[in-house]
Amino acid sequence: MSKATAEDSCTLVIFGASGDLARRKLVPALWSMFQGRVLPEPFAVIGVARSPMTDEQFRARMREAITEFARVQPPTQKVWDRFAQALYYHAGDPASPELYGGLSEHLRRVEHERGTGPNRLFYCATPPSLYPPLVRRLGEAGLNRPPEGNDGWVRIIIEKPFGRDLSSARALNQEVASVFSEEQVYRIDHYLGKETVQNILVFRWANGIFEPLWNRNHVDHVQITVGETIGVEGRGAYYEEAGALRDMIQNHILQLLCLVAMEPPVTFDSDPVRDEKTKVMRAIRPISPPEMDRVAVRGQYGAGFVAGRRVVAYREEKGVSPDSITETYAALRLEVDNWRWAGVPFFLRTGKRLAKRASEIAVQFRSTPHLVFRRNPEILAEPNLLVLRIQPDEGMSLSFGAKLPGQELRIKPVEMDFDYGRAFGGEPPEAYERLLLDAMKGDATLYARGDWVENAWELLTPVLDAWASIDDPGKIPIYEAGTWGPSAADALMDKGRHWHRL
Ligand code: BG6
Repeated sequence: MSKATAEDSCTLVIFGASGDLARRKLVPALWSMFQGRVLPEPFAVIGVARSPMTDEQFRARMREAITEFARVQPPTQKVWDRFAQALYYHAGDPASPELYGGLSEHLRRVEHERGTGPNRLFYCATPPSLYPPLVRRLGEAGLNRPPEGNDGWVRIIIEKPFGRDLSSARALNQEVASVFSEEQVYRIDHYLGKETVQNILVFRWANGIFEPLWNRNHVDHVQITVGETIGVEGRGAYYEEAGALRDMIQNHILQLLCLVAMEPPVTFDSDPVRDEKTKVMRAIRPISPPEMDRVAVRGQYGAGFVAGRRVVAYREEKGVSPDSITETYAALRLEVDNWRWAGVPFFLRTGKRLAKRASEIAVQFRSTPHLVFRRNPEILAEPNLLVLRIQPDEGMSLSFGAKLPGQELRIKPVEMDFDYGRAFGGEPPEAYERLLLDAMKGDATLYARGDWVENAWELLTPVLDAWASIDDPGKIPIYEAGTWGPSAADALMDKGRHWHRL
């Protein structure tokens, strides 16, 4: 990534500025970048939301947010004052055309006052139902291009979820394409901004020894797990409409799969990288209704204990229907039908209220072709396992068999381990820092392209439809909170395979 320059300086307009994302992630990320002197300057932020608020009130709220959530602590008064001066607030309803004339004026005033120049970055952090009207209104107000007589840039970042199935994602893509060109559109997936996720590609292509093994000849299967111990954390109403498949698999986990499975791009630039990821999506075998139960498993958490604390069942959470059929756990078995991966299953799983917060990619290699030590039946050589730990405990380990010291020949799996914290120290930037900066610099490599998003929905829509068609709450497998999900997920594993224990 190149260094930010004055051309990247811009005004960021956050729609949904009174919401959780702005408070927990966006403004804290801007602050940390500002403190670390990586935020292109001068800069300005205009927060837009319905609640009436003055600039000063908005600044005070953001200061609280930063104190609570920012990586870089605590804000000193002097630096804070400099940062706060760049924060403005504009009250209005993003769905209403009235907002945009005033916003346009406000933008010009701020640009003049702060000297930010004509570059504009819009961020859609509102509820997703507002994306279509918001995009349309920006177009109607002419805010999709730089102000008259200027040659700056205008870009728009769109938060997930991007649609809720194939047809709504297509409709949204069309709506967006009628106002912005694809180069202006940044569909965010914060997993791509995580250091450990970016490291998947560095691991594969900055090292000569792994890539020759990275295929069906050597890999038995791949497992991707994103386990969470949290429940729905006050987001019950949102989650009821989403569920684990939409919330995690359609975006974050399929992105991880693509990074593991993709071919090396010609260069590490936005289109070559995204072309290769799209090819992976196209190679994933569609899931047909007759095999649904063999390849897709869902579950919902019941009451239980997480970290020694009693937690309620999903159906008892605030905003959740007592007979909800929304899945809080989903697992899939996918096949990538191409030359590299034919016959290598990819197992994906994610869930809320699981036994542990742990996200990892486990690449299980094939067993040795011939057991030299077979004369002693006690000797079992386990296949090699490479684990890329995404979070927490970021790192990587490679397990292999070693001879247990002693007169007898016995083999024990041991691990070579790499730990980010120990190797590099310090805390890495937050995903949103990296992604916001990339959008300011016009680098969309770590953002999802429209075709990829549609391919992901195309793959999952049959599963969503099949699950929605069984709407008897009694038929949803319930798993106890604090466990690893429904036992049916074990049945996805064939040929003696089993989920990696985390
Ligand atoms: C979000 C989901 O996209 O990702 C949440 O909506 C989930 O439900 C979160 O908890 C997980 O992100 P992270 O970075 O904490 O792994």
